[in-house]
Amino acid sequence: MRKGLFALAAVGLLATGSMAACGDDSGTDSGSDTGSNSSAGKVGIILPDTKSSQRWGTDDPKFLKAAFDAAGVQAEIQNAQGDKTQFQTIADGMISSGVKVLMIVNLDSGTGKAVLEKAKKAGIATIDYDRLTLSGGADYYVSFDNVAVGKLQGEGLVKCLEEKKYTKPVVAELNGSPTDNNATLFAQGYDGVLDPKYADGTFTKGPNQDVPDWDNAQAGTIFEQMLTSNKQIKGVLAANDGLGNAAISVLKKNKLNGQVPVTGQDATVQGLQNILAGDQCMTVYKAIKKEADAASELAIALAKGEKPTTATGTTKDPESGTDVPSVLLEPQSITKENVKDVIADGFVTKDAVCTADFAKACTEAGIS
Ligand code: BGC
Repeated sequence: MRKGLFALAAVGLLATGSMAACGDDSGTDSGSDTGSNSSAGKVGIILPDTKSSQRWGTDDPKFLKAAFDAAGVQAEIQNAQGDKTQFQTIADGMISSGVKVLMIVNLDSGTGKAVLEKAKKAGIATIDYDRLTLSGGADYYVSFDNVAVGKLQGEGLVKCLEEKKYTKPVVAELNGSPTDNNATLFAQGYDGVLDPKYADGTFTKGPNQDVPDWDNAQAGTIFEQMLTSNKQIKGVLAANDGLGNAAISVLKKNKLNGQVPVTGQDATVQGLQNILAGDQCMTVYKAIKKEADAASELAIALAKGEKPTTATGTTKDPESGTDVPSVLLEPQSITKENVKDVIADGFVTKDAVCTADFAKACTEAGIS
C-alpha cells in the first residue's frame, strides 16, 4: 500500500486532498500535522521529552512546523515525554502510516538505534536531530558543534571565576545524561578548558556527577549533596539551563546565589532571567531556528525522493566508525552584556524575559 502511494506521489498523480486525508489518519492529539505537497511523502518527527529543556516543548516544534509548512510538506511532530516505550510506539505508528522520512531525537542510543533500524528496513530515510544515535546508522545528522558548546561553558566559567578573584576555587560539575552523546561532547569541551586549570592548581577539582535523563529535580538533589559534603564549592559547571537552575535553587536556599557562578545552555527564558539577576554566569545560545531549518531542508529533499545537497560535512560515529553526512552549527556564548542578542534574534521575546521582577535588570542590560 505504502509503496503504491509513493509510486503515485512520485509521478505527481496524488491529489492534495487525499494526502491531507492521509495525514488526518495519523495525527494524534499530542502531535501536530502540517503541510501538504502533492509530490512529497510525509515526514515523521519524534522529540524526546518536555522536561529536560524548554526547547523540546516550545522551540523545536515551532520552528520545525514553520519550515515544513513553508515548503508545503506534511510533517507529524510528536513528543515521547521521556518514555522510551512511548518513543517506540510513536515510531511504529509513523512507520506503519507510511512516512518517507523519520527524524528522531533519541532518548538513548540503544532505543534510538532500534527505531532507526526498523525504519531502514521499511525503506524510510532517517535523520538524527540534535543527538547522534551511536551505531544508529542514520542517513544524516544535524546538530551544533557540541564540543564547541562545552568549550564556551568552560571558558565562561573561567572568566566569571577570574572576576570573583577566588583563590583555587572548588569547581563542581553537573554533567548531562550519561546516555546522551551530546553530554559526552559537552564534557569533552568544558573539561578541555577546566582540566588544565585543575592540573596547574588555578582551580580545585570538586565533585563531578552525571544527571540521568537530564532530570532537573534529580540535579537539585545531586547538587544539594555536593554542597553539603563540600561547602567550599565556588563554581558550578552545569551542562544546561535546567541543571543550572537546579543548582541555583539550592544556592539560594544557602544564600550563596550570585557568589557561586553557574553555567548553562539553551538560552531559556529562565536561564536568561537567572543571568540578568546575577545568579547565572552565562548560557549558550543555539539558534534552534537554524537547526530546524537545516534538518527540515534535508528531510524535505528526502521526502521528495531527491538526494539532499545541503550536508556540509561528516561526523564520525565514535562507536561504529561510520562517517555520517552532517550539518553542524556554531553556538554562541551569552552573558548579561548580550542577552539582548537572543531577543533581537527572535528566539525569546522581551515580554517573556523582562517581566516585572526583571524590568530594572533588562534596562541595565540595554534591552529596550
Ligand atoms: C541538547 C540540549 C538540551 C539537552 C537536554 C541535549 O542533547 O543538545 O540542547 O539542553 O539535551 O534536553
